[in-house]
Amino acid sequence: MLYIGIDLGTSAVKLLLMDSEGKIVNIVSREYPLYFPHPGWSEQKPEDWYEQTVEGIRELIRDVDPGQVAGISFGGQMHGLVILDKDDNVIRPAILWNDGRTTEETDYLNNVIGREKLSEYTANIAFAGFTAPKILWVKNKEPENFARIAKIMLPKDYIAYKLTGVHCTDVSDASGMLLFDVKNRRWSQEMCDICGIDTKQLAKCYESYETVGTVLPEVAETLGIPASCKVAAGAGDNAAAAVGTGTVGDNMCNISLGTSGTIFISSRNFGVDKFNALHSFAHADGSYHLMGCMLSAASCNKWWMDEIIGTKDYAAEQAPIDKLGENHVYYLPYLMGERSPHNNPNARATFIGMTMDTTRADMTQAVLEGVAFALRDSLEVAKSLGIDLKRTKICGGGAKSPLWKKIIANVLNLKVDVIESEEGPAMGGAMLAAVACGEYASVEEIARKVVKIIDTVEPEEELVAKYEARYAQFKEIYPACRPLFEKLV
Ligand code: XUL
Repeated sequence: MLYIGIDLGTSAVKLLLMDSEGKIVNIVSREYPLYFPHPGWSEQKPEDWYEQTVEGIRELIRDVDPGQVAGISFGGQMHGLVILDKDDNVIRPAILWNDGRTTEETDYLNNVIGREKLSEYTANIAFAGFTAPKILWVKNKEPENFARIAKIMLPKDYIAYKLTGVHCTDVSDASGMLLFDVKNRRWSQEMCDICGIDTKQLAKCYESYETVGTVLPEVAETLGIPASCKVAAGAGDNAAAAVGTGTVGDNMCNISLGTSGTIFISSRNFGVDKFNALHSFAHADGSYHLMGCMLSAASCNKWWMDEIIGTKDYAAEQAPIDKLGENHVYYLPYLMGERSPHNNPNARATFIGMTMDTTRADMTQAVLEGVAFALRDSLEVAKSLGIDLKRTKICGGGAKSPLWKKIIANVLNLKVDVIESEEGPAMGGAMLAAVACGEYASVEEIARKVVKIIDTVEPEEELVAKYEARYAQFKEIYPACRPLFEKLV
């Protein structure tokens, strides 16, 4: 049998076809536009997602027997607000996870409703990119759109709806809405009241590996797949990536270097940190996880390479970098503000420390190191909770760079296990579909059988010490710049 994993990302949808043994049969990727209607805002059209997903599936299965496609599932960009009217038409473009427009609403939730209450109801506090502040934003700024809302969905759930006709979501993605009681894995009535919505406007919530339905007959015909093909709820992209890299069970770690950068720690038990600096979410394997999320990770490198230096040859730019741990240039990676741990949409990216002898390679190195230091900020929060990690998996576009993996291993002082494929969320989606179809008994079982580590990047004592000293300096830059960031708004 064949399983399709759909990673509904920010720059593109990546589709992966996996066989029963977990072997990747094909991968395709299709881009769609991202709109920045104001500085700090970020939107996409759900119709574009679906159109490219359909085209992508057609291309993905072109050279196989489509009758073998038994299941489809997802990893999807999290937190995005998709609103549908009573006829299931999209009301306005989706407001994405890296959109910073909700400063007022986030402040209201954290300071007027109060962090303690939010944490009690949802295990999390408000961050600008989360869904609940966006609902309040629509309520305050676009009351005519708010009045038309019949269904509130997350990005990948819109695709599931178009494929099956079922309004559904899953526990991991629902966790990032600030409307979900993570500990008890159900919607929070209190949060719905605070946002002025009814639980009926929310989708039915499933475990990630549960089947929500089969494809609609017309969809089956368009795609040329059997109408018996099951669609499983899937997961937020980070939980799906964790499945795809075998980060399931207790105290396992995965770092994702995509548009965002995340450090994801799986846990059998529910837990929250005192300041809610890390997100406390449900995991796709039926348990929980903690996660730090930075808003710009591989996207910093992409911005630096594509927009500033003007090259597509990332490897050539990284080739001259040979003095790790000795760079005098620092880079703050806050191109879209920052989520974990600063929770500040007004933070901005910054280079500091250049001299007349600074080279282009030093600046490129600073970008890679700045992202690693910012991931270390979240790791420090995890350590303060007594979480002791020795190793991590890694996935996402940035994981293609051997240099970046080395920097991360040494800045975080973790062994970095490299998986056969860095397609975390798409692979995780296909694996969730295989579990839903009964091919494997559980998410843990498929992860154990299918995920293969092909290499480990070891931290080196001397380099770790050098980076320790540089991290101590990096940590001083954001607090020093923060008052200025507030004035630059
Ligand atoms: C996680 C987050 C990002 C998006 C990226 O909290 O906001 O990782 O899911 O797609």
